[in-house]
Amino acid sequence: MSPLADRYGRRFPYLRLSVTPACNFRCTYCLPHGYHADANAAAALSLPEITRLLQGFTQLGMHKLRLTGGEPSVRKDLADILRTAAAVPGITKLAMTTNGTLLSQRLHEWMAAGLNAINVSVDSLDRAVFARVTGHDRLDDILHGVDMALAAGLPTVKLNAVLMRDVNDKQLPSWLEYLRDRPVGVRFIELMQTGDNLPFFREHHVRAQALETELITLGWQALPRAADAGPAREYRHPDYAGRIGIIAPYSKDFCAGCNRLRVTASGDLRLCLFGEFGIPLRPLLQSDDQLEDLVRAVGGQIGRKEQGHFLHEGRTGITPHLASTGG
Ligand code: GTP
Ligand code: 5AD
Ligand code: SF4
Repeated sequence: MSPLADRYGRRFPYLRLSVTPACNFRCTYCLPHGYHADANAAAALSLPEITRLLQGFTQLGMHKLRLTGGEPSVRKDLADILRTAAAVPGITKLAMTTNGTLLSQRLHEWMAAGLNAINVSVDSLDRAVFARVTGHDRLDDILHGVDMALAAGLPTVKLNAVLMRDVNDKQLPSWLEYLRDRPVGVRFIELMQTGDNLPFFREHHVRAQALETELITLGWQALPRAADAGPAREYRHPDYAGRIGIIAPYSKDFCAGCNRLRVTASGDLRLCLFGEFGIPLRPLLQSDDQLEDLVRAVGGQIGRKEQGHFLHEGRTGITPHLASTGG
């Protein structure tokens, strides 16, 4: 079967699968009061359901899988999920986005299970600021986990820092020092408005423009955009081992390069991070002989994917926070 393509010619080799909406952190921009299970929330997909889902998506051209949360490592069977995903023919890149709390303890187990890329959320290199943003004084251990991943030769290691006015938006010097000898990509992400964070968003949203201008002044050079690039605009500098990326969802052409689909922890297909509705796939994941129906259903939905989100118009989707959709 030929790979999925939508009405705008975009293909979707990349699936982001949330394996749990739960998280042990309470980041100020995401879950400031911590994660509280909704009494009506459906359980997360089981391992057999995940296996069938992945078999269906690989038939439609998916070869990169990113596990997201909430925090994926909250799930006790995470290593089994990784092992299962790595065994699905066609999945060549197996990535995970994590807050890093279990990274130093579990890295080797995850790598042995097939993990080959991680994105770790590190909003600040200042221990006190990190603790204030996440609610947990865990920076040192998380950075130790990142260094372990580099030492162990994990092929892709990236960090994410959400830019927040008057919180962490003037910390470039500490990042430059960090990047001088570490081959990591740090991505500065513009804070996105979600259903739950409007007052916080109004107070702290800052465009990445000033930071980008500062980088260029310091001699950082924009890399040409690869055809299969993710959302980040990337920069590098001859004196630094690391790279810097800017994720600016409020810039106008952000959605043109969209290459991903999402499935929530309970198995709803989301065509866009800010899409309004999920399409339930779980009923099609109950037995192995439903594979064809699943492939047909997902293929049919792709035609409905919109050209872009509506953030420029000041609208947000019904996404209460990104933990519910997997970011
Ligand atoms: P890779 O390209 O695989 O490294 O992934 P990524 O950068 O998309 O993944 P990550 O989970 O680290 O997400 C980083 C930030 O990008 C998060 O804030 C995501 O919410 C945001 N992001 C990822 N995909 C999209 C998207 O399709 N639309 C929008 N608006 N933001 C996205
Ligand atoms: N705006 C921008 N990024 C966010 N993330 C979570 N919520 C938001 C938001 N409102 C980021 C996290 C993590 C990634 C998956 O999403 O910091 O790195
Ligand atoms: Fe948890 Fe990630 Fe949300 Fe922070 S941003 S509370 S680590 S899901």
